[in-house]
Amino acid sequence: MKFEFSDNMKNLKSSEIRELLKYIHMPGMISFGGGLPNPETFPSKELKDILDDIMDNYASSALQYGQTEGLPELKDQLAEYLKRDENINVAPENIMLTTGSQQALYALPIIFANPGEYVVTEAPTYVGMLSSLTANQVKSVGVSMDDEGMITTELEDKLRDLKSRGTKPKFIYTIPTFQNPAGYTMPLDRRKHLLEIAEQYDIPIIEDNPYGDLRYSGQKIPTLKSLDKNEMVTYLGTFSKIMAPGLRTGFTVSQPEVLDEFNKLKQAMDLATNSLSQYIAYEYIRKGIIYKQIPKTIDLYRKKRDIMLEALDDYMEDATWSRPDGGMFLWVKLSKNMDAFKMLKRAINNKVAYVTGSAFYHNEPELNTMRLNFTYSSDEDIKEGIKRLAKTIKEEKQSL
Ligand SMILES: Cc1ncc(COP(=O)(O)O)c(C=O)c1O
Repeated sequence: MKFEFSDNMKNLKSSEIRELLKYIHMPGMISFGGGLPNPETFPSKELKDILDDIMDNYASSALQYGQTEGLPELKDQLAEYLKRDENINVAPENIMLTTGSQQALYALPIIFANPGEYVVTEAPTYVGMLSSLTANQVKSVGVSMDDEGMITTELEDKLRDLKSRGTKPKFIYTIPTFQNPAGYTMPLDRRKHLLEIAEQYDIPIIEDNPYGDLRYSGQKIPTLKSLDKNEMVTYLGTFSKIMAPGLRTGFTVSQPEVLDEFNKLKQAMDLATNSLSQYIAYEYIRKGIIYKQIPKTIDLYRKKRDIMLEALDDYMEDATWSRPDGGMFLWVKLSKNMDAFKMLKRAINNKVAYVTGSAFYHNEPELNTMRLNFTYSSDEDIKEGIKRLAKTIKEEKQSL
């Protein structure tokens, strides 16, 4: 049979990161390309005990369909957790469990924007949001970043300009803490400025915070949601980086009217989030395992970040890079005349892989950029991989 696919599918490309996964398995390859948490951080023994407990005590509900908005006990518990750990004051009605936070990234453009309308993102931004925007035919305006995250004065200029042309973006999407891909974190005064601008232009904010718990240095900075006095912010959280991504459990915190819309859409997407995973997340918090696991993950990742930064300081020439206080990534900028995409073939030949920065832009990519993951590779591979990358850049420069 010759299948005919919709016009929309022509716009959707398999992400470069997924393509890169092919190379990770080549013998001897050191890949900084993936975005995978390190399996050493998966609390498999504890989760095995939890699973036994669930099967003994709540199998009939843990294996049953659940409510679209999520397991009530988990929502209650998340409301307490958010109050205690993040100073986010919300009721369980403000919380909806999702199949990873990616489900919210897919749903929110549909909920807020019609095809052809605009949203604002950081440039660069997370590929999962970019592919959702493409799939949903929503356009985006990118706002540049410096090492303090989205440049809010540029945001203001762009919103003013859009307004003068009669365009109002439907939301501002930001990852203010340990941004993916760049690793930057927005300081408090800029967060306040962002909220002021959003209020002034009456545009909701989506705050994506998958890495907030993974801080290796510096002081914790309040989330936008905790600073939000006027219900501007929809907040996305996930268990992927603090428990296990395979369980696909995330949550969205927003106003009930937003969650009502999300509920209708989610019924069309998957009816409800995996009940078993939600019970596991519930027990993971109830038994306090989360509070033992996060410090272990932080110790492992801090060491790996430091090894990568030290190797960059030792071997890398003619490039600059971010020095993230947490998260999983750092961002390398090569000299202006270099193209990280063209260089990738040489890098693969030298048995090192990265994601080219252009994968993280909707429009006008900065071709001289790349994202490096520091959480997955072994300590030795991080050092060796950075040596290979430095060599690749040198060779590429000589060939230009
Ligand atoms: C910024 C950002 N948002 C969302 C996600 C998706 O996470 P989840 O596993 O919760 O779907 C990721 C995963 O890497 C991410 O980096």
